[in-house]
Amino acid sequence: MILCKFGTRQALPFVNELLNDFSLNTEERTSQQQTAEDKKKQEFLQNRGEIPRHIAVIMDGNGRWAKSRGSVRIAGHKAGVDSVKDIVEACGQLGVRHLTLYAFSTENWGRPKGEISALMKLLVQSLRSETRKLHENEIKLTSIGDRDRLPPTCRRELEEAISLTAENKTMELCLALSYSGRWDICQAVSRISQKVKDGELCPEEITNDVITDHLATAHIPDPDLIIRTSGEFRLSNFLLWQSAYSELYVTKTYWPDFRRDELYKALECFQNRERRFGKVSPPLELEESPLVIR
Ligand code: FPP
Repeated sequence: MILCKFGTRQALPFVNELLNDFSLNTEERTSQQQTAEDKKKQEFLQNRGEIPRHIAVIMDGNGRWAKSRGSVRIAGHKAGVDSVKDIVEACGQLGVRHLTLYAFSTENWGRPKGEISALMKLLVQSLRSETRKLHENEIKLTSIGDRDRLPPTCRRELEEAISLTAENKTMELCLALSYSGRWDICQAVSRISQKVKDGELCPEEITNDVITDHLATAHIPDPDLIIRTSGEFRLSNFLLWQSAYSELYVTKTYWPDFRRDELYKALECFQNRERRFGKVSPPLELEESPLVIR
C-alpha cells in the first residue's frame, strides 16, 4: 500500500477542506437522471443472461488513483464515494438483490491515524447525505464487521441508517466495516463453541449450514460475483467462507474510476462464465456417457 507522503499533522487541514467540500457537492452529483443509452445497456444485460443476485466488491486503488494525480490519499477515498453512489444506483436499477462493499477491513486499523479518521468522517458524511436517497429507493442498509471498534459517531449514524431502512425490500446494501473473513470465522466458531458448551449443540451437528448460519452474512446468500479493482489477484481476507464458489472478476481500473460502464463489463464477463459448483455441465445423456456400462 502507498501511504500518504505528508505527515498526519500536515495533511489534516487539507483533508478537512476536502471533506467539507464533499458535503456541499453531494446533491448536485446525485440528482442526475438515467440516460436512455444507459437504460438500453441495462436492458441488454438483463436480456443477455443472469444478473447476479449478490455482488461483492473489493474497492481498491483509491490511494494509487490519488497519487497518479499528485494528490493525497483521502482525495482518492473521496472520489471513491462517487463510485459507490454510481454502482449502488446501477445495481438497484439492474435488479441486483445484494451488494456488499468492502469499505474498511480489520487490517485497515493499521493505517495512519489521520487516514483512519478521514475515512470515518467520510463514512459519517456519506451516511448523513445518502441515507434519505437510499430509503426513497427502498434500499436496505446493513453492515458486517466488528461495529464495536467503530468511533461512536460513526456507529450511531450507521445504526440510525440501518434502523430507518430496515424494512426496505428492493436491494440490500451491506457495508463491510471493520470486517475480515477470519474475524467472521472466529466469531462464528466462538458462538458455536458456546452453544456446544451450553449443551444446545453437539459437535457432530456442526455442518456447513451451521457455520454459514453463524457468520455475519447468515442472512445473505453467498456472493455470485466478487469484483476487485486495481488489478491485484487476491481476496485480502474478504468473505473467505462465503466465496467458495464465487466468480472472481479483476480489473486494473482503480476504484474511483470504476463507474457503471465498468460494472457492465464485469457483468458481461460473469454471464460468459459457466458455473458448475464442482459438478459437470451440461448433463450428459445416459447413452452419450462413455462411462455407462451396458
Ligand atoms: C482501498 O484503497 C479503499 C479503502 C480501504 C477504503 C474504501 C472506502 C471508500 C471508497 C470511501 C468510503 C466508503 C463508503 C461506503 C462511503 P487503498 O487506500 O487501499 O488504495 P491503494 O491500494 O491504492 O493504496
